[in-house]
Amino acid sequence: MFFKKKKLAADRKVPTHIAIVMDGNGRWAKKRGLPRTAGHKVGAETFRTIANYAKSIGLKYLTVYTFSTENWKRSDEEVNAIMELLEKYLREIIRDMDKNQVRFCFFGDMSRLSPQLQEEARIASEESAKYSGVQVNFCLNYGGRAEILRAAQSFARECMDGTRKPEELTEEAFSDLMYSAGVPDPELIIRPGGEKRTSNFLLWQSAYAEYYFTDVLWPDFGPEELEKAIASYSGRNRRFGGAE
Ligand code: FPP
Repeated sequence: MFFKKKKLAADRKVPTHIAIVMDGNGRWAKKRGLPRTAGHKVGAETFRTIANYAKSIGLKYLTVYTFSTENWKRSDEEVNAIMELLEKYLREIIRDMDKNQVRFCFFGDMSRLSPQLQEEARIASEESAKYSGVQVNFCLNYGGRAEILRAAQSFARECMDGTRKPEELTEEAFSDLMYSAGVPDPELIIRPGGEKRTSNFLLWQSAYAEYYFTDVLWPDFGPEELEKAIASYSGRNRRFGGAE
């Protein structure tokens, strides 16, 4: 581990749940005269490093925006390269599961993904459900608005068939209809890559999240950068709409 733990502030608060928009892979590659797909490949390695580091500091949930509902607009070549990377990654997850002891979940509409990817995701999530350490949530073919609509449609259907009443819809009940049911909301959402927008990521769950933006591109985002984000979060005063 190249990050020196002794430099960490003793009183830093590690959140329970951190979510990350892994942005900047394409620009990282372009700066080096490489194809965009090379940036995604390094980005996947960055994810591996960050997930291992997150586990080592006791984070409970790590959610990453891996492929959005809008990302299908990219070239076939780029989409295929990301899907191939994911397939390879999931095969490794399944192979190394006992060694890593990480729980994996998938948020998003998996039905548009290849049958092979769907099957690997199913195996990874079912077989890792027994581990109790960190949980990694991959947002795949995920969009925050689509997730909210899906939850609303599901509740409406239950009202139509008489199993529920509209007044039963509380914030808690609605949260239970999201892909993230049972997962506490993220306290910290990190966006590397210089853009300062949410891009349809965890719209419902981010109501009280603290945001951390940095110009560092995702392939360069190491444990030191994660610690900077945690230090920034630790110094903030979270009032949840209340007074001091
Ligand atoms: C955003 O960078 C990144 C993506 C849309 C893909 C994220 C995918 C990976 C990191 C690879 C697969 C991940 C795993 C965990 C196996 P961008 O392409 O939008 O960058 P740009 O804004 O510089 O163009």
